[in-house]
Amino acid sequence: MEEKKKKILSIENLVIKFNLRGQVLTAIRDISLDLYKGESLAIVGESGSGKSVLMKSIMGLLDKNGYINQGKILYEDENLAQFKTENDWLKIRGKEIAMVTQDPMTSLNPLKTIGKQIEEAVVLHQGLKGKEAYKKVLQLLNDVGIGDVEKRYKQYPHEFSGGMRQRIVIAIAIACNPKILICDEPTTALDVTIQAQILQLLKNLQEKYHLTTIYITHDLGVVAKVADRVAVMYAGDIIEFGKTDEIFFNAKHPYTWALISSLPQLGEKGEELYSIKGTPPNLFKEIKGDAFAPRNPYALKIDYVERPPYYKISDTHFAKTWLLHPNAPKVEPPETLKKFFEEGRRYANG
Ligand SMILES: Nc1ncnc2c1ncn2[C@@H]1O[C@H](COP(=O)(O)OP(=O)(O)OP(=O)(O)O)[C@@H](O)[C@H]1O
Ligand SMILES: [Mg+2]
Repeated sequence: MEEKKKKILSIENLVIKFNLRGQVLTAIRDISLDLYKGESLAIVGESGSGKSVLMKSIMGLLDKNGYINQGKILYEDENLAQFKTENDWLKIRGKEIAMVTQDPMTSLNPLKTIGKQIEEAVVLHQGLKGKEAYKKVLQLLNDVGIGDVEKRYKQYPHEFSGGMRQRIVIAIAIACNPKILICDEPTTALDVTIQAQILQLLKNLQEKYHLTTIYITHDLGVVAKVADRVAVMYAGDIIEFGKTDEIFFNAKHPYTWALISSLPQLGEKGEELYSIKGTPPNLFKEIKGDAFAPRNPYALKIDYVERPPYYKISDTHFAKTWLLHPNAPKVEPPETLKKFFEEGRRYANG
């Protein structure tokens, strides 16, 4: 039996806009999302769908021209959406919620040894000093899989490979003792073997430090490896979410179908990989109906007129598509995908 999960963070009806050259762009269009303690949630969706903006809003790191126009971000009895000053955010950022991004070089100071950089976080967030702080740094280096720790302590970022630098950034994030760790494309810049190692490391740390993690990624392969749950984003909205198996083997939104169909594993030998035709909508304009409609081969008339609500597929699985309306014509996913779903479900059921 599954234990009842506790919410750690709740996003409610969030709308985020940007002012750009006298125009307004809506990047997040009324998103609600619960994050449960100890889980690993993946957020997937193509470029520009709003994954990074959503995560930055949780940490108070939106670009200056961006603002929360509506909604709440609830964390421990506080509504982060109402924070005004840097001082407000300093209570949360790093300390409660930390982030690891794609490019470790931008988060490291090239002029300081990596030991000192991790130590700063240890001193600031764990209140340790002197020898104790130093020892803690060595332990953290060890925890993130960097050997020869005393020597490594004294080295500068440029003396490390990309994968090792990412480990250092992760050590700094962990040093702050956060409850939530957001990983924004943490392995995109790394080659495949290193990618797998970093993912494994993050999984181990999640357990050891009782973290709740959010992975942002384009890569459904990464999702399969790390996530308990998946939220699929399209044009600033979460159009489907569910347990990883529910999304991989029983997806209901045609956009999720398209995403899964573009997995390399599903390509027929010798054929070109499936790709989603058309382009995402212009976020400067008001979007009517289902934002995916113009690219959706299964679109209904109503898709162009009215935004679909969430339909419930299971207690944990919801999708925003009119195809789930009781009166909608019955539509099956494409043949290759149907086979993949059936095989996956058989596999999942043992
Ligand atoms: N400072 C900004 N000013 C104007 N528009 C912005 C700004 N930052 C982000 N946007 C817009 O918000 C939308 C969402 O961007 P976001 O970076 O969240 O996408 P993403 O899903 O993270 O994409 P990627 O996979 O490429 O990282 C995009 O249309 C982007 O152009
Ligand atoms: Mg991004």
